[in-house]
Amino acid sequence: MEDKLNFLQQRREIVHKGGGEKRIEEQHKKGKQTARERLEQFFDSGSFVEVGTFVQTGLEDASTLDIPLPGEGVVTGYGTIEGRLIYAFAQDFTVSGGSLGEMHAAKICRVMDLAAKNGAPFIGINDSGGARIQEGVMSLDGYGNIFYRNTVNSGVIPQISVIMGPSAGGAVYSPALTDFVFMVDNTSYMFITGPQVIKAVTGEDVTPEKLGGAKTHNDTSGVAHFRAKDESECLDMINKLLSYLPSNNLNDPPVLDPQEPTLPAEDLLTIVPDDANRPYDVVDVIKRVVDGSDFFQVHEHYAKNAVVGFARIMGRTVGIIANQAKFLAGCLDINSSDKIARFVRFCDCFNIPLVTFVDVPGYLPGVHQEYGGIIRHGAKILYAYSEATVPQISIILRKAYGGAYIAMNGRCLGADFAYAWPTAEIAVMGPEGATNIVFRKEIENSDNPEEERNKRVEEYRDRFANPYITAARGWLDDVIDPRDTREHLVKALDSLKDKFEDRPRKKHGNIPL
Ligand code: HXC
Repeated sequence: MEDKLNFLQQRREIVHKGGGEKRIEEQHKKGKQTARERLEQFFDSGSFVEVGTFVQTGLEDASTLDIPLPGEGVVTGYGTIEGRLIYAFAQDFTVSGGSLGEMHAAKICRVMDLAAKNGAPFIGINDSGGARIQEGVMSLDGYGNIFYRNTVNSGVIPQISVIMGPSAGGAVYSPALTDFVFMVDNTSYMFITGPQVIKAVTGEDVTPEKLGGAKTHNDTSGVAHFRAKDESECLDMINKLLSYLPSNNLNDPPVLDPQEPTLPAEDLLTIVPDDANRPYDVVDVIKRVVDGSDFFQVHEHYAKNAVVGFARIMGRTVGIIANQAKFLAGCLDINSSDKIARFVRFCDCFNIPLVTFVDVPGYLPGVHQEYGGIIRHGAKILYAYSEATVPQISIILRKAYGGAYIAMNGRCLGADFAYAWPTAEIAVMGPEGATNIVFRKEIENSDNPEEERNKRVEEYRDRFANPYITAARGWLDDVIDPRDTREHLVKALDSLKDKFEDRPRKKHGNIPL
């Protein structure tokens, strides 16, 4: 027995050492932890249980300690985070650059299946040179098996990708199929083709960081949702995100003790300027409404004309969507449409109520937007809200013009309750544009066209651009004092907590992409 235990211990040590001391040191020099160190830091102390420790490609003689690729370059298993069951893999760059071969992929697929069967969130820590070149098509098949499971499990369990090293070639597509992508400054890169290939094909010179670093994918491409300055901050951010999420689509998110906002509701009387053309920060509004004034933004650096993220109201998770008047006057454009639609659909999959704060002058005009397909991108928001069956409440703060009034979850798209502040302006278009069309003749024929236009704009604003015409039709449930916004949300969400809405049976819809 003793001999066998010794042999077991030796095998285990080899696997645990991964690529060995030298490669571990190189990993540390790059500011990166090893796969095992990451899992150790991430999971509740001592809770991580490895699955498939001795998986190995092509083992024919098990009497020796010959393990060419310890752990196959990936550590897989489960554990708890804040007491909740989570399944995970962490690629081990010290073993063949974390490259993905047949058995590496099989290990990942096994924990993906276990996560789905047990209704637990799944987290993948990516640090890999991509398909293991020596294994050829076996690697490609491995990727395909992972993509398939990412898709089948989508909307069943939350899936989170963490990029903590290279993620190149087709390896980017598993993260792209998951719900949230985290990246770390200076050490993580995602690209389909790297700088050298780009140089050869197009002649463009670009650094890895500029091409596919954390800033690029958070600010410009929108591929990543979160950006951390180092690995430790990244793991804290993932923990925070998980705290808002249910474990699966049949569970509700965790409920915490209710907390009043720490910032005063009285400020809501002055944050939104009376002048409809002046900007402000809508996050200041959100923070005065939600528990503990704590708002966790998703996609914070991308399409800043919209704000989306998680918060709690009376201890329960809500998904918040808002127009951000500070950027592009809060207009909806291609990128913000994608951002909003994706977030709404995530919340709807996972039983998270939606609270929408509206201040939107319309869809962004421009040749670039039209050529880029604002029609099909803008349609995604309409589709996502119409499809959603979770509780939905909209609050119109200021402008709600044209198609964007509908898109920001007007009652017609399925909002359960809609409220407006007295400052709301709801109309088919803004007063200036409408006046130029409706009173064109009067303005042209006037002795003083400028004065006539101003007069007509004011008249239009007084008569039409207020919340009472909409309220008179019943499409607003009330016009409320801004300071009472939280109270209305608390009561409305409570009344909707057992909401059930059925839809016609179908395989799936066909969201415009
Ligand atoms: C096999 C690989 C590998 C790979 C790295 N290694 N990538 N082995 N297949 N894809 C090995 C290296 O040979 C080396 O082994 C060790 O990992 C560390 O790699 P280094 O190059 O020394 O590290 P570094 O300088 O940090 O560079 C990391 C890197 C680079 C940028 C990731 O290795 C690289 O460019 N790799 C190839 C990236 C790539 O083109 N991937 C796409 C593959 S195709 P030794 O033994 O010398 O230490 C693909 C398609 C998938 O992914 C399609 C799915 C649909």
